[in-house]
Amino acid sequence: MAVIIGLIHGDGIGPEIVNEAKKVLDAVSRKYGCDFEYENLLLGGASIDATGLPLTEETVEKAKQCAAVLMGSIGGDAKTSPWYQLPADKRPEAGLLGIRKALNLFANLRPAYLYDELKDACPLKPEMTANGFDMIIVRELTGGLYFGRRYTETVDGLRTAVDTLTYNEAEIRRIAVKAFEIAQKRRKKVTSVDKANVLDSSRLWRAVTEEVAKDYPDVTLEHMLVDNCAMQLVMNPGQFDVILTENMFGDILSDEASMTTGSIGMLSSASLNETKFGLYEPSHGSAPDIAGKNIANPIATVLSAAMMLKFSLDMDAAADDIESAVQKVLSEGYRTSDIYSEGCTRVSTSEMGSLIAERI
Ligand code: IPM
Ligand code: MG
Repeated sequence: MAVIIGLIHGDGIGPEIVNEAKKVLDAVSRKYGCDFEYENLLLGGASIDATGLPLTEETVEKAKQCAAVLMGSIGGDAKTSPWYQLPADKRPEAGLLGIRKALNLFANLRPAYLYDELKDACPLKPEMTANGFDMIIVRELTGGLYFGRRYTETVDGLRTAVDTLTYNEAEIRRIAVKAFEIAQKRRKKVTSVDKANVLDSSRLWRAVTEEVAKDYPDVTLEHMLVDNCAMQLVMNPGQFDVILTENMFGDILSDEASMTTGSIGMLSSASLNETKFGLYEPSHGSAPDIAGKNIANPIATVLSAAMMLKFSLDMDAAADDIESAVQKVLSEGYRTSDIYSEGCTRVSTSEMGSLIAERI
């Protein structure tokens, strides 16, 4: 029976990198004799162009019929793209937030690890990463500042903007449980990141996380303030195993963590709900400045496809094949421009995709 995979090509470099991930999935399907059927879904700018809206009911309904959805990236250049002349709730990003909420994708997993082969591309001093690092950021994705009430009004003659940061204990508990479950399969350490010295939402976050920790006695829990975490990520990234944090902090820290791996073009992600379903996307954006040039790095999307095979399709061996193929291509010296260093072979987006697919 065919497995239906939704594909959101999206905007900017999105279509190019999704095509390469599809190439790799086709190689997997040949090797394992499985039948992947692709359903194209519209989101973001591409959806605005076609329908006037960044997310339609049709996309949500179609996504629900898929076993999983693989996405490129959405959004354009805020200075030049007409999408940004629209009110905020009609822009591409609103579509992404909308689909996360509509599908209840509350758990965003963003792994960041340093490939030996990319040590030269890592911007940190060698002594900071002597023992490498391998962490996963577990970011709450459907609450907090992103989904609180927001408005702008005039108060005493001054334009005043309000964003609200709300978490209830159930929202905190379910993401904490995810983090502890993941830690049990890794090095058994959770670093919960908050701003409990200032924010009430963080104090509740800390209390609930400690309650959850009682059910996982084999996992060590530590708390870290977000400003300190931002510093520790560049000073001693090797100390982290699982970082558990709320939506906004996770957005910021995951960009920082991804850059320490050498390039934001390497970081995959999975957004999950309580079922097997997930939305898989690179952690990076749509890079409109290099769109259509066949120079973007497709590896984050290819690795997102591997996460999809593991979490949604129970194809662990195939996921491992993709990860090994990426590793092999890197160790053979092939690099897209963003991770290029001297002595390596510079390849295009499509060449990188083919090289990985050939090694499945
Ligand atoms: C991400 C992105 C999104 C976010 C944007 C595009 C709304 O930065 O997935 O990290 O802030 O969540
Ligand atoms: Mg982000």
